[in-house]
This record gives sequence, C-alpha cells and structure tokens, in this order.
Amino acid sequence: MRLLHAIGNAFKRGAVRRPDGAPPLLSPAPEVEPPHPPDQESLIALVNSFPYWYQRIYLGQGVYTLPTLQLHNYVWRAVETMLPEGFQGASVLDVGTNAGYFCIQTKLKGAGRVVGVDFDDRYLKQAEACRAIWKLDIDYRQADIDQLQLHTLGQRFDVVLFTGILYHLKNPLGVLEQVADLCNDAIVVETEVISPAHRNIVHVRQGPFGRTVVTPCTSGFMKFIEKDELNGDSSNWWVPDEACVLGMLRTAGFKYFSQPRYLGETRMLVVATQQPQSIFRIT
Ligand SMILES: C[S@@+](CC[C@H](N)C(=O)[O-])C[C@H]1O[C@@H](n2cnc3c(N)ncnc32)[C@H](O)[C@@H]1O
Repeated sequence: MRLLHAIGNAFKRGAVRRPDGAPPLLSPAPEVEPPHPPDQESLIALVNSFPYWYQRIYLGQGVYTLPTLQLHNYVWRAVETMLPEGFQGASVLDVGTNAGYFCIQTKLKGAGRVVGVDFDDRYLKQAEACRAIWKLDIDYRQADIDQLQLHTLGQRFDVVLFTGILYHLKNPLGVLEQVADLCNDAIVVETEVISPAHRNIVHVRQGPFGRTVVTPCTSGFMKFIEKDELNGDSSNWWVPDEACVLGMLRTAGFKYFSQPRYLGETRMLVVATQQPQSIFRIT
C-alpha cells in the first residue's frame, strides 16, 4: 500500500516537474529510428498524455519521453561495453521494467524472447505504448516480484536485468534466489548501495559456536529504510553495501563477477554469471 502511495507521489512529482508549456522533448535524433514512427506531433502528444515518465526512451522523429539523459541511459552504456557480440538471440527478463527501456535496448541489440515485469500498471501502459512505436516483440507482465512468484513465469532466461530494483524489495535475498533459479547465464544488477567512501563499522557477535566475540566489522551491511528516509520515497526498503550485494548473489548461486562499477557515489553496477562462459565479457 505504502509503495503504491509512493508511486502515486512520484507521478504527482513528475507532473509538477513537467507542466504544460515545458520545452518540447526534442533532441538530435540518434542513429536508430523506429520503423515508420507516427508524426512528431502525435509522438509529443503521446508523451504528454502521461503525467510522469521515469525513463528516457526515444520514440522517433527526435522525440524522447524525457528531455535529459537519466541514470538508466548510463547503465545501458556500461552494460553495452561488456557485450562484445550483442545478445545473440539470448532470452531476457527485465525485472522492474518500468517503461521498458532495457527491453527495447536488448531487443535492438539482438535479444530473442524478452519479458518485462512490473507491478505498476501505469508504467506498463507506457511500456506498451513505446513497444508499439518500435514494433518490437516484447512480452510485458504485471506482477509483484516481492511475492516470490517468479517461477509462475514458467520459463528460464539467459539474462536477467535487475536494475534499480533491489532496494525496492522487502525480500531481496529471496527474490535473488528465485531469479538465480530461472537464470541460465547472467544477471545485471544495478543498485543503490551504502557509500564505500566511508569507514563504517558495525560491532556484532561473530565466531564459532560457543566462542563468539563482539567483533568490529567494516563491510557486509544492509541498512533498513523504515519510512521515506531515502529520496522521500517510502517504496525503498534496504540499502546494502557492495560486499552484501556480492554475498547475496553468491548465496543465490552466482559464481563469477565483473569488477563492480560505480555510477555515482552510491550506485553500483555488477554483472554476475553462473558459468565462466557468458555472453558478457566480465574480466
Ligand atoms: C527505480 S525504477 C527502475 C526501473 C528500471 N529497472 C531502470 O533501471 O530504469 C523501479 C521499478 O521497479 C518497479 N517495482 C518496484 N517494486 C516492484 C515489485 N515488488 N514488483 C514489481 N515491480 C516493482 C517500479 O514500479 C518501477 O518501475
């Protein structure tokens, strides 16, 4: 409930940020154009028919859903550098797909079956509108992945995209275990993390049974967000540190890791694979 409330607020915030009369969402067109897009006026009307966009997606004729580059655009650039051959027909699951930016990008880079999951119908409507303009075969599903029901998708995927979602989950480790169960090759995790720049110390009991000692630990933490301390957004629940993210991925079953990359002081990107051979080049 509080999550829906937060998203409602996000839509409201977006409406304030982009009022009527805001500059048109036009930029120099990128190299790839959707096939036979509607005219520019219709595309701008489509963008403006939604009160809020989180993702910046190109719709053709120079029209974007948002005027400026966003975090996910930089995440994609970083992901692309680890994909020398593209997706080569790989199946892709995009968890927390939002308006489907990563589904569109993976499809354009040669992915086979692509499924995007989100629990917010308003974002899925945006995803469907963008998909229709690009005329791509993408399957969007509405589901709350915190309910630990990913197995109901009934299939496995070569690649799972898990960007901007970990800290929104009440059950992050349980969901990662489910994701690992249905992932053949790799997971791309991008998440808010505890800043590595500070020397945090937690004193906690450690040691073998019967000989534990309160020990200062410098990593392996996850901070609980009880209310809306992060970003005024009550849909955030946990902020892990880097060691915690890698440890949860190992616990879930992933074995090989790219060097974690920071896209800002508290945003980390890592690719983890089940086998040493992967479509991602992570070394
Ligand atoms: C911060 S946005 C990230 C979107 C996208 N993955 C990206 O990196 O740009 C989080 C998205 O996850 C969705 N989401 C959050 N919690 C979810 C849940 N429990 N089940 C399904 N989707 C969820 C939200 O609706 C939103 O679209």
